[in-house]
Amino acid sequence: MSRKAAKEEPKVHPFDPGYTAEPFLTLCANYPEETVYPPDQFRVEWGPIFHRGRLDGSARVLVIGQDPAQHETVIRRILVGEAGRRVQGLLARLGITKSYVCINTYLYSVFGTVKAATSRNPALVDYRNRWLKALLVGQNIEVVIALGQAASTAWTMWKASPDGQASQVPFVAVTHPTQPESSSNNDKVKLAAATKKMLQNWNAALQQVHQNVIHPDVVTPLVPYGDTWGADDRLRIPDDDFPAGLPLWMRENDGWARRTGADALAKRRNITITVSSGVVS
Ligand code: URA
Repeated sequence: MSRKAAKEEPKVHPFDPGYTAEPFLTLCANYPEETVYPPDQFRVEWGPIFHRGRLDGSARVLVIGQDPAQHETVIRRILVGEAGRRVQGLLARLGITKSYVCINTYLYSVFGTVKAATSRNPALVDYRNRWLKALLVGQNIEVVIALGQAASTAWTMWKASPDGQASQVPFVAVTHPTQPESSSNNDKVKLAAATKKMLQNWNAALQQVHQNVIHPDVVTPLVPYGDTWGADDRLRIPDDDFPAGLPLWMRENDGWARRTGADALAKRRNITITVSSGVVS
């Protein structure tokens, strides 16, 4: 008896449709440029990168990051690299697998350091507060998490605004997910100590806000991190978060985009994209 070949189902590729409704259409059409984000402090040449996650009111947790790097620049969504995978793991510990939204403190990648006057520029702060208002006022956010100092300050500035004062949403600031790497200068011992310290900081934050996530995607008892990254602590970023058609290898790992060149100017002008090994045989 001849067997019929199993019929192959067509593959479905979920994606993020982008900015399709107000107030996000206006926020993305009308954003601060070089007069607000000086080119000696930001890589404005690569354009602004706005968000990742749900903009349809279904988000229960809002994450505020710092600034986009080279992978974000290519993908045009934030927190899509290693920091993003660590954040997915943190959200999962709160039972949040899809009901989240992330914005950054800054629309553009930081170049060097941000001057205090720039970070306090009312045009920069007011624009960010318009995003926070869109995501918080009359919406369903139950917890806000700030990644690192700049994000924590962004929250303080929002809380000083009339809309921020009126909002009572629980907030927690955590150590930035890649702070261990940036603080340890490739020293393995320092990296291990900084990772342990950060995971302790994250455990304290989880203790603080776990009970405030009243509508998790998955009811999840609080399980603390250990002293090092465990197998499930860094999670894949869901396909629904990426623009349509993004190849799998760009979603799965980072390291494929590097700022290349002999000097700082060349590195600003070049991002080299290399298809991950094993993809093209
Ligand atoms: N990428 C972002 O977009 N934000 C961060 O805070 C870190 C990496």
